[in-house]
Amino acid sequence: MIKRISVATALAATLAFTNTPILAEDLSEAILSPFRQKEIVPVDNKQYKDECGSCHFAYQPGLLPTKSWEKLLTAEALKKHFGENAELDADTLKIIYDYAIANAADKSYHKRSRKIALATENIEAPLRVTEVRYIKRKHHEIPDKMIKGNKDVKSLSYCDACHTQANKGVYDEDTVKIPNYPDWDD
Ligand code: HEC
Ligand code: HEC
Repeated sequence: MIKRISVATALAATLAFTNTPILAEDLSEAILSPFRQKEIVPVDNKQYKDECGSCHFAYQPGLLPTKSWEKLLTAEALKKHFGENAELDADTLKIIYDYAIANAADKSYHKRSRKIALATENIEAPLRVTEVRYIKRKHHEIPDKMIKGNKDVKSLSYCDACHTQANKGVYDEDTVKIPNYPDWDD
């Protein structure tokens, strides 16, 4: 504890000296909330949130590596997006593409993104978050009846059906509630 305070104090002093308030906010967040670092950076791009959150929850770019977003987010691929037409105009696509690439799992220091980057390192780009080994492993004990057989979930793709803070990038087990199965973890 003493050590942590002294690091923070030293940092505050350095930051006061260099006078960079935005950096100060990022750094104090990184140092003082290790819990958040464990999670995934929430979506903070309006176009992405609006366009990619209209049919399903807006998956954080940190849930897939760069090579996956490169495949998913082309004009061609979006015309045949999992059986749906998710076409975008060229300007919007560029904003969304750049945003996803810049925040992909392999560019993030958040632990869950690191794990996803590692799990997808030497394999062909997955087109689904639910195909990533790390994500599969975290869910393999949940019986099918609680997912596919559950009218309020339907598939593992609907992260926010069970992860009550998924839109904040928080997937911690304390925040999970499986609809219709209040006692799933007994
Ligand atoms: C017109 C509706 C629609 C829009 C708009 C849309 N999607 Fe999808 N998306 C789908 C459907 C349908 C699925 C498949 C869901 C399933 O298998 O249950 C899907 C699946 C996905 C998956 C895989 C989820 C998994 O199973 O792990 C990703 C990633 C994804 N979409 C990203 C995006 C992004 C990024 C955008 C914005 C450019 C977007 N989607 C816009 C309909 C849409
Ligand atoms: C049917 C409900 C359900 C759906 C849908 C679901 N999850 Fe989960 N998720 C769980 C449960 C239950 C756990 C395990 C909690 C535990 O470890 O006891 C879990 C665990 C996790 C963990 C690990 C948490 C930890 O603390 O180790 C991550 C990360 C995660 N889910 C991400 C996702 C993502 C991303 C999606 C969507 C692509 C998703 N989940 C969809 C129920 C769900």
